[in-house]
Amino acid sequence: MKIDIHSHILPKEWPDLKKRYGYGGWVELHHESKGKAKMMKDGKLFRIIQENCWDPIVRIKEMDQKGVTVQALSTVPVMFSYWARPHDTLDLCQILNNDLATTVAEHPKRFVGLGTLPMQAPDLAVKELHRCVKELGFPGIQIGSHINEWDLNSKELFPVYAAAEELNCSLFVHPWDMQIDGRMAKYWLPWLVGMPAETTTAICSMIMGGVFEKFPKLKVCFAHGGGAFPFTVGRISHGFNVRPDLCAQDNPYNPRKYLGSFYTDSLVHDPLALKLLTEVIGKDKVLLGTDYPFVLGDPEPGKLIESMEEFDDETKDNLKAGNALAFLGLQKKQFE
Ligand code: CO
Repeated sequence: MKIDIHSHILPKEWPDLKKRYGYGGWVELHHESKGKAKMMKDGKLFRIIQENCWDPIVRIKEMDQKGVTVQALSTVPVMFSYWARPHDTLDLCQILNNDLATTVAEHPKRFVGLGTLPMQAPDLAVKELHRCVKELGFPGIQIGSHINEWDLNSKELFPVYAAAEELNCSLFVHPWDMQIDGRMAKYWLPWLVGMPAETTTAICSMIMGGVFEKFPKLKVCFAHGGGAFPFTVGRISHGFNVRPDLCAQDNPYNPRKYLGSFYTDSLVHDPLALKLLTEVIGKDKVLLGTDYPFVLGDPEPGKLIESMEEFDDETKDNLKAGNALAFLGLQKKQFE
């Protein structure tokens, strides 16, 4: 069994949001030809996508070819729209979440949904979180690595964490909104360098902000193997020890305390990195993730895990599916 915790999906179409809300900045989808569409933001091309980004039948065909049993579906982070007026973001979240719920309901053995929330308005986010869990049946939510000016330690976000903990709703943290101009403008650096830094910032913020202390049952998974965190945890821990005046302001415990308390996906594209990741984060805390259907993702789901000589069969099975079931609070039998 393979469960892919990290895959993105969009509705085939959605309303003209500029018209709907009265101002620009939204993503539009322009279907160019059969099976191909352009994601446009303020008239500029953001990304060209194929039908596997919106068509569940095409996805299932590709999943069958690659041996993927279940995909956890989340929106594309550019759709978060945390910058907008809160009620407009809520409205868009509901469009996206309802579409997601329809897809999951049509294929309940192949997909589970990770919803999206208007995180810039925590009161609205908590309401939509309740709807996502209780009405739409989602086991988790995807959130950005920061919310406008808030890092994930922000006290404003604590009601969302409290609600997620209470509802046993898992959080998948995805990097986004990296610096894209200036020195980062060339060589795809925002994706190659900025994203791992974003994820590291998110992990450090949650640890040092005491989020895991205050919400010990909150289940959080960070994308892309936790970004740069697993490799730089020594520096972070040492920094904590030598400058507690800076690092221990909100939490007196060394960041190493939380190793084994949170999850990451397995998307590191390198056997040495995957070995380090499982040793630092825990063999029971790393989940298969591919970033399907995007090009920076893993085109061979599970192949790297299966190739690891140092993992026994039980570890491989847990990395491919068992750990994801634990993270999502789901049972294997519901997909059989
Ligand atoms: Co992704």
